Amino acid sequence: MNKDKIFSKRNKKIDPFEFNAEVADVFKDMLHRSIPSYLSTIETIESLTKQYIQPDSNCYDLGCSLGTATLAIEKGINVEGCKIFAVDKSQPMINKCQTNIKNEATHVPIEVINDDILNIEISNASVIVMNYTLQFIEKNKRQIIINRIYNGLRDGGLFLLSEKITNENKIIRDQLTTLHHDFKHKNSYSHLEISQKRAALEEILICDDSTTHNLRFKKAGFKNFGLWMQHFNFASYVAIK
Ligand SMILES: C[S@@+](CC[C@H](N)C(=O)[O-])C[C@H]1O[C@@H](n2cnc3c(N)ncnc32)[C@H](O)[C@@H]1O
Repeated sequence: MNKDKIFSKRNKKIDPFEFNAEVADVFKDMLHRSIPSYLSTIETIESLTKQYIQPDSNCYDLGCSLGTATLAIEKGINVEGCKIFAVDKSQPMINKCQTNIKNEATHVPIEVINDDILNIEISNASVIVMNYTLQFIEKNKRQIIINRIYNGLRDGGLFLLSEKITNENKIIRDQLTTLHHDFKHKNSYSHLEISQKRAALEEILICDDSTTHNLRFKKAGFKNFGLWMQHFNFASYVAIK
């Protein structure tokens, strides 16, 4: 695994974060060292797929990056006639995703699509995953996406949404941020790397709080939704149609 050293040198000017080839090369390492319980989320995607997959249905991994969640969905599929759509707008991520799928996928057809999630038609779905991607989409487009997800799901279908979240309470918000930075420091990121990456992401990754996420699920039409995991300021929700 290539080690993420992207922000290790002091830069006078910090450019906004991009999912480019440099990031795609080290992304596996970056995810594991930056997102608390990332692996646990991937394992849970496989378990939930086993529970919610329906025969002859579609699955979607929206913002698939390297295809890690796509492959977890694939492992969880234990019925016939399913297809997975893995979508990402970054060409370097899609290139790596295609290689990973070629090397690791075993039994389910997977279509890898290099496009914006906003252009994707979602239909006949029983499992939809958006693992740490909604946070990169313009705020005024987020409800549109959750509505499309709801409309594209079959009855009984599952939507899993993971996000970095903020907190309405400043003291709690700062505490969770400190814990997250401590987590990254323990995973060998220097204080310089942590602060430079934070600056690069400042206008790119815009977090919502849990109240906003819950309201979006509700507005879309979901009646059954809630958190299954929160680790510091990272949260994962399930919503069932
Ligand atoms: C944090 S990564 C997702 C990690 C991945 N889901 C996983 O579990 O390993 C966010 C991804 O979303 C993609 N992305 C961001 N906005 C997008 C959009 N509007 N349409 C499609 N992909 C998008 C980025 O290119 C990036 O690969």
